[in-house]
Amino acid sequence: MNKLLQGKKGLVLGVANEHSIAWHIAKKCWEEGAELASTYQNEKTLRFVQPLFESIGSKFYHEMDVTREDSVQVVMGKLREHFEGELDFIVHSVAGGPKKGELEGRFIQTSRQGFMDSMLISVFSLNVVLKETLDMLRNRDAAVMTVSYMGGERVVTNYNIMGVAKAALESNVRYLAADLGREGIRVNCLSPGTIKTRAASGIGAFNQLIEHTAAHSPLRRNATVDEVAKASLLLLSDWGSGITGETIYVDAGFHITGVDLPIEEEKDRG
Ligand SMILES: NC(=O)c1ccc[n+]([C@@H]2O[C@H](COP(=O)([O-])OP(=O)(O)OC[C@H]3O[C@@H](n4cnc5c(N)ncnc54)[C@H](O)[C@@H]3O)[C@@H](O)[C@H]2O)c1
Repeated sequence: MNKLLQGKKGLVLGVANEHSIAWHIAKKCWEEGAELASTYQNEKTLRFVQPLFESIGSKFYHEMDVTREDSVQVVMGKLREHFEGELDFIVHSVAGGPKKGELEGRFIQTSRQGFMDSMLISVFSLNVVLKETLDMLRNRDAAVMTVSYMGGERVVTNYNIMGVAKAALESNVRYLAADLGREGIRVNCLSPGTIKTRAASGIGAFNQLIEHTAAHSPLRRNATVDEVAKASLLLLSDWGSGITGETIYVDAGFHITGVDLPIEEEKDRG
């Protein structure tokens, strides 16, 4: 049977280590036949990501800070050469910006800098990368995906400014999808539940959040990072060719929960 992404060229942003959501997506795309290029945030990250990229035979991995548009331009220029001007998909799995202590406690205390950096790193970076790769994506049924969280739609304790950024990211996805659709480019978003990663470790009481979502999700557990990676294949491959501008939850159903009281056993049996 043909692999889902056989012959496709993809760019993955946001691998920091083996726990990163981006790494699990990259591995899944590679298993499905894609040829991958990746970027990582800075030199400190290299020793964690190099063995990962090499394990999937990736020949292109470059440092690229998404807040530096000059660096994005240079690295995407190198990618253009490497992939001979062709790119079939992008995985944008990047978030950052809040200052120390801004992902716990009161939202009202968010600093101007933390607010602006969160928007630049977690939202606008998608536009920056897309602008620099548009010529490679155009007219080849390309797919772009980013990663959001339910905190963009509903209030989650401690998620604070990142919730505002995720709301903007999901709206950004819709505007980009509307704008780029005429060039055959689809833009979508996955919204995973809670997964232990480096970024998540900065969110106050994250372990409690994990326990709470598992206890109140319809599936009575959290979705795994492997399940998130599997769902990414739908958005990135031809199987999702009719989907654009969408945010798809992969959270064991937690986002549908309103009130979840225990059901009495007796009544349950009728
Ligand atoms: N872990 C979760 O529970 C969870 C749930 C829903 C959504 N998400 C989202 O998933 C995405 C990936 O996060 P993760 O949980 O895998 O954590 P992670 O720490 O592994 O990934 C975050 C990535 O963002 C990169 N990054 C931050 N600032 C950058 C910059 N200036 N330039 C370039 N790269 C930069 C980091 O280097 C890192 O690779 C994020 O958008 C996050 O908000 C995570």
